[in-house]
Amino acid sequence: MEPVLAACRAALAKPGHVIALTGAGVSAESGIPTFRGKEGYWTIGAREFHPQELATHTAFEAMPWAVWAWYLYRRSVCRHAQPNPGHLALARLAAALPDRFALVTQNVDGLHRRAGSPDAQTYPIHGDISQMRCAADCVPDRWPIPDAVPDLGKGDAVDAAIQAQLVCPRCGGMARPHVLWFDESYDEPRFHLDTVRRLAGRAALVVSAGTSAQTNLPWQVVQLAARAGATIVDVNLEANPFGDIAAGSGGVIRGPAGAALTAIADALISR
Ligand code: OAD
Repeated sequence: MEPVLAACRAALAKPGHVIALTGAGVSAESGIPTFRGKEGYWTIGAREFHPQELATHTAFEAMPWAVWAWYLYRRSVCRHAQPNPGHLALARLAAALPDRFALVTQNVDGLHRRAGSPDAQTYPIHGDISQMRCAADCVPDRWPIPDAVPDLGKGDAVDAAIQAQLVCPRCGGMARPHVLWFDESYDEPRFHLDTVRRLAGRAALVVSAGTSAQTNLPWQVVQLAARAGATIVDVNLEANPFGDIAAGSGGVIRGPAGAALTAIADALISR
């Protein structure tokens, strides 16, 4: 791990931003199933669905309450989870580097915020599972899912009393989870597209952690940053495309994100 920490310290001596790019693996140690792991599957009726089928506008149009049930179950898991050392390390980095640290996260679980990462330095590019917005887009606003909406277990249905809570406060139509679906596109107002691209283009260091590198904006972050001369480091239990890029740059840590991010934060803060 030491050569990677040395590369991180060297990158900090260059001008530019330090970007942490996090994925589901960072929350795995908090007990939240990853997206593409075995626990990600979900059964509706007699069929098993992969998240990539359910996290779509098409699925929501066809079976909105079944999709809501999946999100409300996952919201319950997230609410009961606690931030782990990886989240806490990134919150410490944000505090130590107030002018040059940005956290770009694909995670919708809110654990970075609960660990103390400030909103001003955090870019949740796939949304927030605790929020909802108008399904018909009558206004771009988003709202917390009401506290009166209870935790849902696997197999629990969204009954009429819950359905009555999941409405747009403006137009009274159906609300939807505030998450980016596979058949939708990134934008700036909701998902920070332009801001994140701009930050990546002037990065000195990108630490990707716990992501399988399957989505578009994270790819842009790594590529724009690499083109700008940034050092790329990857933390993951397994090989992944960002690891291949990092291997030719700052290096790879093949281990759990909690310990690795703690070591990286310590190295950057005590430099
Ligand atoms: P994935 O589930 O695709 O990948 C999780 C990654 O974390 C894998 O590469 C694992 O090897 C790694 N991993 C698991 N546990 C780890 C640990 N303790 N320490 C380090 N690494 C670990 O999740 P994401 O890459 O986040 O998007 O998925 C990206 C996006 O695809 C999600 O945000 C979601 C999904 O579809 C949307 O909903 C738009």
